[in-house]
Amino acid sequence: MNEVYLETDRLRLREFTADDVELLVELESDPEVMRFLTGQPTPRHQIADVTLPAILKRYAEHPGLGTFAAHQKADGAFVGWFGLQPTDVPDTVDVGYRLNRTAWGKGYATEGTRALIAKAFTDLGLQRVVADTMAVNHRSRAVMRRAGLRFVKLYHEHFDDPLPGSEFGEVLYAIDRATWEAGCHG
Ligand SMILES: CC(C)(COP(=O)(O)OP(=O)(O)OC[C@H]1O[C@@H](n2cnc3c(N)ncnc32)[C@H](O)[C@@H]1OP(=O)(O)O)[C@@H](O)C(=O)NCCC(=O)NCCS
Repeated sequence: MNEVYLETDRLRLREFTADDVELLVELESDPEVMRFLTGQPTPRHQIADVTLPAILKRYAEHPGLGTFAAHQKADGAFVGWFGLQPTDVPDTVDVGYRLNRTAWGKGYATEGTRALIAKAFTDLGLQRVVADTMAVNHRSRAVMRRAGLRFVKLYHEHFDDPLPGSEFGEVLYAIDRATWEAGCHG
């Protein structure tokens, strides 16, 4: 495994490498995982030619940020990814996650998201962490709440090819440094 980006009690996060196509193909081949993202499995060529190269490019463009492969510390199994992405707002990052279905229901998403928020406010010196998802993605919203993010707003976007449930809109959650430091994060 290449350099560790972050460790939690049960997970180890690292940068992806060019050898990780198969891990992402498997993750994005499950329609349930993709249900609130594209609604369908991602073709292998798209992962190899677009998704993974974009992830690798971002490490150089935004040191400390990006999309990170997560493995169980116990046995090394790949469970999915977590991300901290830059936004248009200075000192504000967007946290996200995508886990294999076999890794759902274990608290991994909450554990990883809490740790990323802590990293954003400590090592990375940032001021605000946001997260967004479809309003109907209740599992993702529950992760946001458990990780200390708070509901900010419901908003609507135009999609040419909307996913079922898009009519209920998107939701934005956030936590700022002062709130996190005051201890409302856990
Ligand atoms: C969003 C997603 C990561 C949520 O996964 P999840 O398993 O529901 O969330 P967590 O990992 O925090 O696990 C919480 C569940 O584990 C249970 N759990 C079991 N052991 C646990 C432990 N040791 N600690 C905490 N929770 C534990 C919790 O009770 C909770 O169960 P519940 O869902 O029945 O209430 C997952 O559904 C996913 O990858 N979806 C596809 C991608 C996606 O939609 N991403 C978001 C788009 S913005």
